[in-house]
Amino acid sequence: MIKSLLIYLSKAAWARAIVTKWKFVRQAASRFIAGDNIEDALVVVRELNKKGINATIDHLGESTTSTEDAIRATNDIRRLLEEIGCCEIRANVSLKLTQIGLALDFDLCKQNLVAIMDSAKENNNYIRIDMEDTPYTDLTIELFRFLRKLGYQNVGLVIQSYLYRSEGDIKELICEGARFRLVKGAYKEPKSVAYPKKADVDKNFDNLTKIMLDASLKENFSGLSSDGRIPPLPGLGTHDPNRIKYAQDYSKEIGLSKDMLEFQMLYGIRRDLQENCVKEGFPVRVYVPYGTHWYPFYMRRLAERPANLLFFIGNYFKK
Ligand code: FDA
Repeated sequence: MIKSLLIYLSKAAWARAIVTKWKFVRQAASRFIAGDNIEDALVVVRELNKKGINATIDHLGESTTSTEDAIRATNDIRRLLEEIGCCEIRANVSLKLTQIGLALDFDLCKQNLVAIMDSAKENNNYIRIDMEDTPYTDLTIELFRFLRKLGYQNVGLVIQSYLYRSEGDIKELICEGARFRLVKGAYKEPKSVAYPKKADVDKNFDNLTKIMLDASLKENFSGLSSDGRIPPLPGLGTHDPNRIKYAQDYSKEIGLSKDMLEFQMLYGIRRDLQENCVKEGFPVRVYVPYGTHWYPFYMRRLAERPANLLFFIGNYFKK
């Protein structure tokens, strides 16, 4: 109930207009967000790199409502790629297609995406396309395939274990040589397309993990690149110790080397697990968001763990 309300609020423009005016909310959100600028993100990434952790940087933004904003976001992401290229940090870039115009105009989004891919190529970097809610699943996969047809290899996408369709998608896309980040899924979806029960989402996460690990072994997928930017096929985006243990145990059972499996987590969540995975010898990547469009991202973090509302309330009393 609270989860559904928070996810609804994450998309409500009226709620965003009110909530983003409250300074204490920005303060509470700072737990999950590196800061407003690229420089803030780079400081966080350098600290992570010192601990042996790679990063994927997200210039926050989604559901863009004008062509100008979509083009501005595209240019911001291109600048981010140049900055990463200049400072040689171990980081790639994640983005959402609705930030660069998918909800406005498919061709505009396509054009913006190609411009970003060119910048990524020039700067020897890799783009991970985040997966949004189901109105965009087919379009996201279509654009991913379009990029691959154009010859871009430096791109991957995200698969959500809460969707019934994901097993089919993953099997088809593995045959095409795609690399994935597997996540549980952060949006509100109807029972007709997604498992309503968490236990089933978890079970499917393990099932999809197994498919990805088996493919990694059989298809001879390469592991993490030496500059830490191109992730191996199975990137598991979760903070769930049981899912992590399943993947570690299964990879050991089939004899998959540790650098062929990457654990990915969000900035500010379960730092203990991040560090444990590094100690165990697995590549770890932390998703580092920055920027001023933090509202929907933060609301989804609250929805994932309503206990986070306590921090939110704590910040209200500190204000
Ligand atoms: P689960 O929800 O079971 O949580 C396991 C444990 O993790 C909790 O007990 C708690 O300790 C901790 N935890 C989880 N969420 C927390 C939070 N918000 N605050 C504090 N602690 C928390 N989704 C999507 O739909 N599209 C995408 O592209 C992405 N991309 C993405 C990238 C990366 C790197 C990660 C880690 C996650 C995503 N997600 C995502 C989000 C994902 O779908 C999912 O909503 C969250 O990761 C929470 O699920 P867990 O797997 O962590 O498990």
